[in-house]
Amino acid sequence: AVAAPLSAQAETFPSRPVTLVIPFAAGGPTDLLGRVLAQSMGASLGQTVVVENRAGAGGTLASNFVARANKDGYTVLLHHIGMSTAPGLYRKLPYNPLADFEYLGQVADVPMTVIGRPDLPAKSPQELLSYLKQQGNKVNLAHAGLGAASQLCGMLLQQAVGAESTTVPFQGTAPALTALIGGQVDVMCDQTMQTVPHIRAGKVKLYGVTTRDRLKPLADAPTMREAGLKDFEVVVWHGLYAPKGTPPAALATLNKALRAALKDPALIGKLDEVGVQVVKESLQTPEALRTQLSSEIDRWGALIRQAGTYAD
Ligand code: MLT
Repeated sequence: AVAAPLSAQAETFPSRPVTLVIPFAAGGPTDLLGRVLAQSMGASLGQTVVVENRAGAGGTLASNFVARANKDGYTVLLHHIGMSTAPGLYRKLPYNPLADFEYLGQVADVPMTVIGRPDLPAKSPQELLSYLKQQGNKVNLAHAGLGAASQLCGMLLQQAVGAESTTVPFQGTAPALTALIGGQVDVMCDQTMQTVPHIRAGKVKLYGVTTRDRLKPLADAPTMREAGLKDFEVVVWHGLYAPKGTPPAALATLNKALRAALKDPALIGKLDEVGVQVVKESLQTPEALRTQLSSEIDRWGALIRQAGTYAD
């Protein structure tokens, strides 16, 4: 008799490194969060989790890549709120966020900061808002492409004050922050995951935070609501995704590793330093991520139609 070939079933997942795809440039907020997560998940999986940056088109390039990747559990995607804004922003999106993925769970909520180049004349958040309105398209507003959190926040900010800044897209907010520090662009919204150390070092001007309440690591900074923008709130929620059709056993193992990572005191400590909270346990599930994604697509879709911002 011929022995049955070694089947995939005989192999326990994961038997080799897992790739975590990051949809923005290395060194930026998603990358920083991804690396912390990869380390803790790797410990739980007993395998290295390798971070791979696939920046471009506001995160949609990486999403499309993962939607079409091998469905074997070895490719996963960390993405944020942009997963829900892209369907509104792109007339032709080459993948369907609600059909082409498996959902592993929500990860963490990251606040944003509204920051300016070091020598921007505005001295307070109120002055910044008037500056944006008065200077019109002379203001260069940096973001990480249509579908980035920085783009959404910048769009909402402009809408709120009736400003028409010139938007300058980058492959991620890491290169955008370098340009802001260098004075090549004027203003940006960016996540605390990246901005806190630069704010503390005085390399950029901090105007406010986008959360409902003030943040512990930046306690002196007002919220944009305090600065006069009623109801203004942007929280960058994150999810972990795999290609549609990934085997249930691999998904269960990955979800278990995600939940273990989100309990890891080392991970919690690193995130806490920059005002980032892991989501509560009930949100660390496939159902919770898909529900969040679906309701966020509806919410932002309506706002984006109002703003009239589109890419073909
Ligand atoms: C990044 O990692 O560069 C950011 O998450 C981009 C953004 O969404 O603003």
